[in-house]
Order: sequence, then structure tokens, then C-alpha cells
Amino acid sequence: MTAIAFFSILVAIIIFIKNRILHKRIQELNAINKLLTIENENHMTTVQSLQEEMNKLTQIKTVSEIAASISHEVRNPLTVTRGFTQLLRDGSLSDEQRNQYIRLSLEELDRAERIIGDYLTFAKPSIENEEVLHLDKEIKYIVQVIKPYATLNDITVEVNMEDCQYTILGEKQKLHQSLLNIVKNGIEAMERKGKISIELKKYNDLAQLIIEDNGKGMSKEQINKIGTPYFSTKEKGTGLGTMVAFNIIKAMQGDYTIESQIGKGTSFCITFPLVE
Ligand SMILES: Nc1ncnc2c1ncn2[C@@H]1O[C@H](COP(=O)(O)OP(=O)(O)OP(=O)(O)O)[C@@H](O)[C@H]1O
Ligand SMILES: [Mg+2]
Repeated sequence: MTAIAFFSILVAIIIFIKNRILHKRIQELNAINKLLTIENENHMTTVQSLQEEMNKLTQIKTVSEIAASISHEVRNPLTVTRGFTQLLRDGSLSDEQRNQYIRLSLEELDRAERIIGDYLTFAKPSIENEEVLHLDKEIKYIVQVIKPYATLNDITVEVNMEDCQYTILGEKQKLHQSLLNIVKNGIEAMERKGKISIELKKYNDLAQLIIEDNGKGMSKEQINKIGTPYFSTKEKGTGLGTMVAFNIIKAMQGDYTIESQIGKGTSFCITFPLVE
């Protein structure tokens, strides 16, 4: 055998052995990879179940916060009513005083009922007395209610409505509550001399309502948080207004989107399905 042939065989043997080693290494790496994938899947499952656990805890926290708020707010009217009822025992009261105590007691009981009603709407809004509503008419009503508050803050309200039928299904009081919360926020977001515009038009088979202000606007983070309970940047805000508003829109089969820019303003686009 020549030296060249011997050398070639040697090289072939070395390549063969190297290949075997490489093959084995690839097999090992594949096995490790498989293990890592399983580990990763386990991790994902753990993260997912932790996330679910956290969501549940948040829900429980929200429910207990609602319960605490209700009992706190309902206690005041009940205490006042109790006081008046005790006073009614006094036989020497004049008719006028007696009537006044009864009137005030009834007013306080109504207030307690309203508080509970508001919180129930907040927790789980349902449209109980569904009726056909004319959205244009309801918007005119809302503008009428909000105008004094806007004027007081030097803010003009501009209304723009295409002239057509805007019949939707819903509950009048709740629709008012929802839209008033959104318009009120718009007014509160503006310094004096601002403008809030309310536009109503048809978009396919939807009524599209755009409520726009040129107020201070919201950051991305704030947009993500708006509508979650107790999120407020106001000193005296409850942070429940938009939560109630959005829940009502959803309960009426409606939808909404928000666009906002810091320093420029905010625009809420709300849609409701039109009915014949
Ligand atoms: N049009 C808007 N422009 C800028 N920020 C807004 C607007 N609407 C809502 N926000 C922000 O969203 C937060 C939550 O609004 P929400 O109505 O739920 O509560 P609130 O207005 O703070 O309190 P409340 O409604 O009880 O007065 C507000 O505090 C504000 O920071
Ligand atoms: Mg508000």
C-alpha cells in the first residue's frame, strides 16, 4: 500500500468517527431540545394558571370593594331616615314638621335605592325595560341636561346630526346615564373655552355617535385603564363613570372605540345597531 492510499484510508476513518460523534451529539441535542420544549410548555401552563388565578382574585377584590362601597354609601341615607322616623314619635310635632320629616325620609330612601341601582348597573347591567328609542331625540335631551354645566365652565356644545331615522333598542334612563357620563368627562377634561362636539350619523346598519372634546387627552396607559373600576385621575372622581357607561353600551348590544392624544383631545365613537 502506498503512503497516499494509507493516508486516504486514515482520513476516511477519522471522518467516519467524527461523523458518528457528530451524529451522537445531534441526538443528544435533540433530546435536550425536547426536554426544554416540555419544560417550556410546563412553564407556559404555570404562567397561564397563575394569570387565571390573578384574574379571579381581582374579580373577588372588585366584588368586595363594590360591597364595601354600597354598605358605606347606603348607610348615610339609612341613618338619616332612622333619625327622622324617631322624631316622628314626638306627639307634639306640627303637621308641617311631620310632613317635612316624612318627605325627607322618603327622599333619603329614594337616594338609597338609586345608589344600589347604580352599583347594580355597574356590576352587571341588564336592560330590563327594553323599548324602541330615537337616538337623535335622546341626544337632544342629553344636550339640554348638560348645557348648563357646560356653560358654567365656558364650554360650547356643538351638535351635528344627519337628518334620518335613528331607531335603536335600549332603556332610556340607562342610555342617558351612559352618555351623560361620557359627555361630562369631556367637559371635565377641558380648560375653560373648550368645545365638545356630538355627531350622529348612519354607518351601514349602525347608528354612529361621535363625542369629541379638545381637552387634555389621555396617554396610552390611561386609555388602557379607562373603564376599569376605580381608575380616576380626578381628586373627587369615583372612577366608576366610564365603567357604568361602557357596561350599558355593551348591554344595549353597542360598541365603542376611543382615540385620544395628550394635549389635543379625546374622541369616543359609539355604535348601536339600528332597528326597523
Ligand atoms: N374625555 C376625557 N378626556 C380625558 N380623560 C378622560 C376622559 N374621559 C375619561 N378620562 C379619564 O378617565 C378617568 C376615569 O373616568 P371615569 O368617568 O370612570 O371616572 P371619573 O370621571 O374620574 O370619576 P366620576 O365619573 O365619578 O366623576 C378620568 O379620571 C380621566 O382621567
Ligand atoms: Mg367621570
